Amino acid sequence: MRVLYPTARRDKIQSMLKDVLATIESRKHQSLAQLIEFLKIPSVSTKPDHKPDMQRCATWVEDHLNFAGFSTQIVQTPGHPIVVAKNDHQAGRPTVLFYGHYDVQPPEPLELWTSPAFEPAIRDGAVYARGAVDDKGQVWAHLEAVTAWQAHGGLPVNLTLVIEGEEEIGSHNLEAFVAKNREQLKADVCVVSDTNQFARGVPAITYGLRGLVYEEVFLTAASHDLHSGLYGGAVPNSANVLCELLATLHTSDGKVNLPGFYDDVLELTPAERAEWKKLPYDESDVLAELGLSATSGEAGFSTLERRWARPTCDINGITSGYQGPGAKTVIPSKASAKISMRLVPNQDPKKIQAIFERTLRDRCLKNVKIEFENHGLAGPVRTPIEGAAVKLAMEAVEAGFGKKPALISSGGSIPVVELFKRVLGVDTLLVGFGLPDDRVHSPNEKFDLEALYAGTRTAAVLYEKLAALKP
Ligand code: BES
Ligand code: MN
Ligand code: MN
Repeated sequence: MRVLYPTARRDKIQSMLKDVLATIESRKHQSLAQLIEFLKIPSVSTKPDHKPDMQRCATWVEDHLNFAGFSTQIVQTPGHPIVVAKNDHQAGRPTVLFYGHYDVQPPEPLELWTSPAFEPAIRDGAVYARGAVDDKGQVWAHLEAVTAWQAHGGLPVNLTLVIEGEEEIGSHNLEAFVAKNREQLKADVCVVSDTNQFARGVPAITYGLRGLVYEEVFLTAASHDLHSGLYGGAVPNSANVLCELLATLHTSDGKVNLPGFYDDVLELTPAERAEWKKLPYDESDVLAELGLSATSGEAGFSTLERRWARPTCDINGITSGYQGPGAKTVIPSKASAKISMRLVPNQDPKKIQAIFERTLRDRCLKNVKIEFENHGLAGPVRTPIEGAAVKLAMEAVEAGFGKKPALISSGGSIPVVELFKRVLGVDTLLVGFGLPDDRVHSPNEKFDLEALYAGTRTAAVLYEKLAALKP
């Protein structure tokens, strides 16, 4: 590709990078100790009790960026604060927007953790804690890298960092912030490290993410619970009705049974299917790791295709009736379920939400009240894989990990990626350092220390590489 900056400047930047990498190497232990401090803060965004921890965590991130020489700001929202930081933006340099999240998922079930979720522990070459890989550890890799750059004369690009506290609950307040600060957030490219490598030894750049519609459905039958002997058989049972409704969500060949659900689905191309077939994927390894005898899903698609390119509808939780030990003969008044639908290009979250609510309303017994609450909407994402930025990112990963990255997709969602594209017009590089067995959102979440260090090097090299982009 064309080198867009003068040779003298490039030589200077490359000699700075050597010092940056040396500093990163020499600071491994201190860096890990700082990450452990970050991980100790229980920044669980979904729980109201943790509101003070969210503020404390935002301040921790801000303090660090301040120390590294960024001008910083904590932006309050109706929810949790957003940390914004900038280095000295100079004309003629490309501008990079970094996004990460400091909030984490709830740690429950607590009894399944080998060591407590917010008391980080090092075992088998990994740090174990809630948020270790999602996303504090990956954010930390960037903070360490940019701090080293700042200590050696400053980053070679204009950098804006946005580190928010509501990703795990759908980034509800981010859109208003982004829309209001369009000018301030203008960038040539966005960088996010909140995804995975393909496998141990196979680092990756992710170019596809699924979208999300997360709905909770509430049924109310009689005004109160009833004796199942006295009333059973003569009144609607909210739990029975919920089960009947949920049982209509799929057809026997694994398709989602909502009219219009597949209307806008962009089908996989034969070329893409062929590319994915070449990835070093071993179904039996995955089955062993998951403790399953077989996978299941939509007929006619491989496991990777089902996870990366097909839309889904999954029950995430069901509640009704007596849940304590022993028996209680009761017809529950109320029943509810949480349901996530993962979307693929070009499905529209709002449209799918409407289809879901309308269909369940239609199918529900008429003497039972049905209500909905939305817990998240995110658009599906496909980032361009041609162009200078991806090529530079691939070089950075190769420098950091010592291996060429694979180009992969992922089944997860990161709402900001579609948001930045829609509101700022900027494409995101998804350069993730996690491993598939890191147990994100699950007990015993971990981040491999080798991945942490390789990720930190990758981040350091990436900012050097991106300096060659045309501003
Ligand atoms: N970092 C994850 C998403 C992810 C993980 C993508 C691994 C690719 C590989 C993110 O924090 C996440 O969990 N997102 C939520 C989004 C939702 C709450 C709007 C998700 O996917 O459930
Ligand atoms: Mn994440
Ligand atoms: Mn997450």
